[in-house]
Amino acid sequence: MLYKNITFIGAGNMTSAIIRGLIADGYPSDKIMATNPSQAKLDILIADCDICTSNSNDDGIAFGDVIILAVKPQLMSKVCAAFKSKERLSNKCFVSIAAGIPTDRLSEMLNGVKNIVRVMPNTPSAIGQGMSGVYAHDVVAQENVQFVLDIMRKVGDTVLVDNEDHINTVIAAAGSSPAYFFLIAEAMQAEAINMGLNKAQARKLVQQAMFGSAKMLKENEDLEPSQLRANVTSKGGTTHQAVLSLQNDNIEQTFARAMQAAVARANEMSKEF
Ligand SMILES: NC(=O)c1ccc[n+]([C@@H]2O[C@H](COP(=O)([O-])OP(=O)(O)OC[C@H]3O[C@@H](n4cnc5c(N)ncnc54)[C@H](OP(=O)(O)O)[C@@H]3O)[C@@H](O)[C@H]2O)c1
Repeated sequence: MLYKNITFIGAGNMTSAIIRGLIADGYPSDKIMATNPSQAKLDILIADCDICTSNSNDDGIAFGDVIILAVKPQLMSKVCAAFKSKERLSNKCFVSIAAGIPTDRLSEMLNGVKNIVRVMPNTPSAIGQGMSGVYAHDVVAQENVQFVLDIMRKVGDTVLVDNEDHINTVIAAAGSSPAYFFLIAEAMQAEAINMGLNKAQARKLVQQAMFGSAKMLKENEDLEPSQLRANVTSKGGTTHQAVLSLQNDNIEQTFARAMQAAVARANEMSKEF
C-alpha cells in the first residue's frame, strides 16, 4: 500500500476507530493527522497512536493528500466554509463519512472540488469488524478509490456501489443495522430473564448464539441465509414453531419497513444540510 498523508477533520469515535485500525496494520503514524477543536481527544490519539495532531483544520488541509471529513453532518457546511486556502483544496482527495450529504452538496461546500468519495462505515469498525459502503464519482481517480477501500478494510470489510442513491441502502443495511441486532438481543435477553434465567445467563446465551450464527453466515457464503435457517429447522420441532411465530408476525415486512424508514430519513437529511 502506498502511504499517503491522511488527515482526519474531527477526532471523534469514527476517526479514532479508523486510525487505530490503520496503526494496528502498520500504517506510519507520521503520515496521519487528526484535527479537533478541543484537545482531550487529540491527547488520547497522541498517547495511543503517536499521530500528528492540530487544533487547526487548515494545518490538516496543508498536511493531507487525502482529507477525511469526520464531523457531524450538521457541522459540515460550517467546517468546510472555514477552510482558508480554497485553491489548495483542488489537489486533495476528500472523503466524507457523514450520513445524508450528497457529493454534489459536498462539492458546493468545497469550492467546486469534485474529487470526493463517500464512505458509510458502522460502529463495529471500532473493533475491526466494520462494514463500509463506498461511493466515488466517475471523476475520482481509480488509485484514490482503491486507497479509500484499502483504508476502510483496515477496520472491516467494504462494498463499492456505483450509484450514489445506494449509499442510503448501505445505511439501511449496514450503517444502522448494528442497532437492529442489538434490539433483537435486547428483546431475546428480556424474554430469557422473564422465563427464569438470570441476566448473566441470558446475556451469554443470546450473544454467543448471535455471534455463532453471524460466523456461520460469513463462513458459508455459498449457502443462502434461508438454507442455513432450513438446516436448523426440523418440521414440527421447536425452532419450526418459533420461526412460524415470527413469520406470522410478519418479520420480513417489519424489517423491510425499518430499512425503508432509514432510507427515507437519509433522503430527508440530504435536503437539510
Ligand atoms: N459513529 C457511527 O456509527 C457513524 C457511522 C457512519 C457515519 N458516521 C458519521 O461519521 C461522522 C463522525 O461521527 P462520530 O460518531 O465520530 O462523531 P463524534 O464522535 O461526535 O465526532 C465528531 C468530532 O468532530 C469534532 N468537531 C466539532 N467541530 C469541529 C470542527 N470545526 N473542526 C474539526 N472537528 C470538529 C468534535 O469535536 P468536539 O467533541 O471536541 O466538539 C468531535 O470530536 C458523522 O458525520 C457521522 O454521521 C458515524
